[in-house]
Amino acid sequence: MRQHMVVANWKMNGSRGAVGHLLRGLNSSMQSPRCDVILAPGYLHIDQVSRELTLTGVSLAGQNCSEYSDGPYTGEVSAKMLADSGCKWVILGHSERRQYHGETNEVIASKIELACSENLGVIYCVGETITQRDSGDAQSVVREQLLTALNSSINEESRIVIAYEPVWAIGTGLTASPNEAQIMHSYIRENLRSIEAINAEDTVILYGGSVNAVNANDFFSQVDIDGVLVGGASLDAEAFCRIVDMATLKREN
Ligand code: 13P
Repeated sequence: MRQHMVVANWKMNGSRGAVGHLLRGLNSSMQSPRCDVILAPGYLHIDQVSRELTLTGVSLAGQNCSEYSDGPYTGEVSAKMLADSGCKWVILGHSERRQYHGETNEVIASKIELACSENLGVIYCVGETITQRDSGDAQSVVREQLLTALNSSINEESRIVIAYEPVWAIGTGLTASPNEAQIMHSYIRENLRSIEAINAEDTVILYGGSVNAVNANDFFSQVDIDGVLVGGASLDAEAFCRIVDMATLKREN
């Protein structure tokens, strides 16, 4: 059975003070979670989160890593450094990386390969822009993102989670309808079946894009939606804890 998962992507937000405040909120409001909970702080806050988070059963993720293993790449952070800092996961292929940093499926494939070689689980983000959706290309774009980045980079040992994040739903307050998301998740699972190193039935597929404490439950009610990747609402401890509670309830029903 697939474990349910809630991932917080804090993006480029916060300061030591703000992170401390958020952690105090999470420490006091979250019961020891009975689903997988992953926090992805900015690199500079990873150590602070490790020290100040008192909850058990919560893992850490990097928001990105370099496509190179190490060496003269000023400003980059390697998969090895993330693993060494206590991260168990890394988010790769986020649309903000594709859009603002020109990351292609091929570059992301290199990152996935390096992350897996450091035993990091990969949360691989896919999703179409509004133009691609309006022109009927959403599925072919997502299929290409999946097959190009995963086919060459993983093996049976790799821990891969897919996050479907329609670009037009990120930070906009718009979401795919639960039914639209379910159709894409089912399509993603169908395509995962063609990737030899992946067990499609066991692969966790998350929905992301303007998920909050009010709408999260609608996504959890869909059969192929195993959890959520939360941006803005994850910066509010109370809202995030409510989303985690909903994921736990889904698991128990
Ligand atoms: P929002 O929840 O702020 O829309 O962000 C989603 C996201 O990009 C998570 O990775």
